[in-house]
Amino acid sequence: MNPKQNLLWWQRGVIYQIYPRSFKDTTGNGVGDLQGVIEKLDYLNDGSPGLTTGGTEASLGVDAIWLSPIFPSPMADFGYDVADYCDVEPLFGDLATFDQLVAEAHRRGIKIIIDYVPNHSSDQHPWFIESRSSRDNPKRDWYIWRDPRPDGSPPNNWGSYFGGPAWTLDEATGQYYLHQFVKEQPELNWRNPEVRAAMMDVLRFWLERGVDGFRVDVVGLLIKDAELRDNPPNLDADPNLPPNDLAGRQLQVYNQDQDEVHEIIRAFRRLLDEYEDRCGIGEIWFELPRWVKYYGENDDGLHLPFNFRLLRQPWQAQAMRRSVDELEAALPAFAWPNYVLGSHDSPRLASRFGGQAQARLAAMMLLTLRGTPTLYYGDELGMENGVIPPEKIQDPQGVNLGAERTRDVCRTPMQWDEGPDAGFSAVEPWLPVSADYATRNVAVQSADPTSMLNLYRRLLWYRRRSPALYGGDYQPLDAGDADVFVYLRTAGDERRLIALNFTADHRRISVPGEDTGQIVISTHLDREERVSLSDLELRPHEGVIVEL
Ligand code: GLC
Repeated sequence: MNPKQNLLWWQRGVIYQIYPRSFKDTTGNGVGDLQGVIEKLDYLNDGSPGLTTGGTEASLGVDAIWLSPIFPSPMADFGYDVADYCDVEPLFGDLATFDQLVAEAHRRGIKIIIDYVPNHSSDQHPWFIESRSSRDNPKRDWYIWRDPRPDGSPPNNWGSYFGGPAWTLDEATGQYYLHQFVKEQPELNWRNPEVRAAMMDVLRFWLERGVDGFRVDVVGLLIKDAELRDNPPNLDADPNLPPNDLAGRQLQVYNQDQDEVHEIIRAFRRLLDEYEDRCGIGEIWFELPRWVKYYGENDDGLHLPFNFRLLRQPWQAQAMRRSVDELEAALPAFAWPNYVLGSHDSPRLASRFGGQAQARLAAMMLLTLRGTPTLYYGDELGMENGVIPPEKIQDPQGVNLGAERTRDVCRTPMQWDEGPDAGFSAVEPWLPVSADYATRNVAVQSADPTSMLNLYRRLLWYRRRSPALYGGDYQPLDAGDADVFVYLRTAGDERRLIALNFTADHRRISVPGEDTGQIVISTHLDREERVSLSDLELRPHEGVIVEL
């Protein structure tokens, strides 16, 4: 064990993101719910020691689940438009079901992380209803209202990430309000102390209910330029952007990532620190130098600003290595790395990286790098982008910016078995089940010793028992072939070598200074053998973990 680390759960653990609408429907309305999550907890981690040697493990073995928003919502952005921060959406259950979920998860040693959406509420939130009711309503300043420009146009040029201007005119009061997503998501004014206090109370409400952490939605957007200046044009913008993609044609300079946001994040952190062992995660897409500031300067920021950098890399060993090495170099000593390869906002990783073979290699990379991995539901089956007929598109990004931008493709129902609707629901689900469900599902893959699911299980359980993997140092190696990403993970005497072949060819590597080692997991799940490290052959798309 690495003596320098006394690791916390969010450092050594693995997070699993659940998109509640799509996980498991127990009420027969085509939408997943909290009871469904409870029923499937054993799939995620049954809490038993489960440490069999090799072969299949009884459950996946994740340590925490992050639930995308579960709060009352008109669903203009599928829960990211919150109408009440302190309750549960009836489609998903109620507070009692939530409490039961927390208790059942904790009984199995699973932590619960919930989404916190502080940048904007729903336009149906009572705060906004009041705010828009008149210019002198006490809650007017809880949102961002401005007069039109003299010609009647919006107060500045900002575009919404979901298309069109980021401002909507409220005819009755003659002012515009700001929304950088759909117009049903008005942005709260975090420069107003009453808003801050009310939103801190929301965190307290859930902390008192026993949640272990928050994933803070678009946290970098909370504070905008005090003068709301126009954004400059993005001269490199893709000329083929849809005409209404105004945001894509601008550099996001004044609408986000203002230095004052860190003061708010420090306040979040102080609150979390009043409780034991809680974790703050943030959704932050900025480039490294700006991104890293979200850890704070003195371990007083977010524990884990989500790191999406790998997800944007091309499928090349050196691109991945560079991304990892730049991250490692940028982190302050106190900061713990993390990696995300899939989410409810991105194409499925199996589709993005080229197929199932690549997805297997990606799984090994994600689960063996230094830092906390976040898995996205269904990626453990190799779920691919769903095919959504145009008339079934639900996601506002797809509705407004074109079918190829719809995030519905990565939100299709979890594929449990070969029964109707993949065992997700007894009725037609809110999004179509993927066509491959009869062969790609939990039941079929559980029975197949070399399936993607069993690869994930093997990797997770191996990682859990390996201090080098969950807590050790990371060192990249040059092993004679730039298309193979090779690194060492070390904790005390325990040394593990990982070699990932990013090509569709056989490749040979030579690991300097090493003689032989024991392959314990191959992504193909078909070899465990002693090998020479001066001349190690990897098959197409093969990755291996080698005990040294
Ligand atoms: C975040 C969420 C995304 C949502 C947006 C607005 O990016 O991950 O799903 O649409 O914020 O809340």
